[in-house]
Amino acid sequence: MTFSRKDFPEGFLFGTATSSYQIEGHAFGGAGSTHWDTFAATPGNVVRAENGDRGCDHYHRYEEDLDLVKAAGFDCYRFSTSWARVLPEGRGQVNQEGLDFYDRLTDAMLERGIKPCATLYHWELPSPLADLGGWRNRDIAKWFADFAEVIMGRIGDRMYSVAPINEPWCVGWLSHFLGHHAPGLRDIRATARAMHHVNLAHGSAIQAMRGLGMKNLGAVVNMEWADPATDTDEARAAADLYDGYYNRFFLSGMFKKEYPANVMEGFAPHMPEGWQDDFDVIGSKLDWVGVNYYTRKLIGPNTGPWPHHEEVEGPLPKTFMDWEIYPEGLYKFLKRTAEDYTGDLPLYVTENGMANADVKQPDGTVSDPERLDYVEKHLAMVRQAIAEGVPLKGYFLWSLLDNYEWALGYEKRFGLVHVDFDSMERTPKSSYYELQKALA
Ligand code: FCB
Repeated sequence: MTFSRKDFPEGFLFGTATSSYQIEGHAFGGAGSTHWDTFAATPGNVVRAENGDRGCDHYHRYEEDLDLVKAAGFDCYRFSTSWARVLPEGRGQVNQEGLDFYDRLTDAMLERGIKPCATLYHWELPSPLADLGGWRNRDIAKWFADFAEVIMGRIGDRMYSVAPINEPWCVGWLSHFLGHHAPGLRDIRATARAMHHVNLAHGSAIQAMRGLGMKNLGAVVNMEWADPATDTDEARAAADLYDGYYNRFFLSGMFKKEYPANVMEGFAPHMPEGWQDDFDVIGSKLDWVGVNYYTRKLIGPNTGPWPHHEEVEGPLPKTFMDWEIYPEGLYKFLKRTAEDYTGDLPLYVTENGMANADVKQPDGTVSDPERLDYVEKHLAMVRQAIAEGVPLKGYFLWSLLDNYEWALGYEKRFGLVHVDFDSMERTPKSSYYELQKALA
């Protein structure tokens, strides 16, 4: 282990992150149908058509899971709240069982001295709202703000921090342009609208939570470093455009009240009416920003329609996701986010981690030195950014448990803790024990 707590500033927070649909078991506790259930039920979308019905059965095992968070020495637990568990129809009638669950979960964190860090939306949109167009419908900003009030009206008094939406790029581009995530659309008009409405919903939820008197509200964005695939102007422009719609679009909306010009070249004809008037809501004051970081991409031009580019396979060592391991990207993003957007505002790494095959051995152990190596390399970049003045206040590892990795089903294991998806038995991996020593 190449680090311990004393290598970080006093008060630096370590945490681990999960999300509701990926671990809770959506079939339990009266949750309503979501677009992930129907996406997964449609042939060809998800490996083995797996869904979040059982997840890791966290709904029943959350005490044991929080014991693992505590015993590892983490200060914080980043979890998400399922909209459809709280409001099965997306609006209107509340599922008391759902609210009660998040209430118990919150108290169970506090009893263990763990800081609750909530995300309101980590991708499971209630089906009745998907029927109305989901993120393509401008009304989602209002529906989402109402959900924020309902869930935070119950647990908001005990949250350490809250962010409205996990990874706006995934909600917008990945789900409406690439079609890899629910609702699986591949349509530029849908994408432009979803990307803008995600921002509007973010700002609307921030305002709703301010209205409840809540503090320490932020945003969580994901970033992938984009390098040109070749040393040409065309490849540089291609990488710059990828950077625009992936890494700059959302922060630019929130902090500069505008969208990147190269992205608008493709989006302008498809934007919803009146979008220019939404930036005061989108730019609602924030207390922190979280960056989720995993990898980089090489981008080169192609002759297809806008955005006229494609990913090119890179030469670096890869994880089980086929993602290149590129720790320098995290350093570059932390520096750039502070310099270009957030200034003195506290930053967090809200997700970072890797998937591995992680097989449980006959002697009952799971050895994952690759994960430890990945984390150490990224934490070295975190320390470098801090040393150069970036106001970074914490680091969250994705993830506590092996879980439902969306369209890739249950075989991409991101956990510090191995999960047997038949018996639901939890087995801490070697990386868990190493981290425990470092955090002691
Ligand atoms: C992030 C997601 C998280 C998980 C990791 C691997 O994009 O926020 O749910 O899928 O990637």
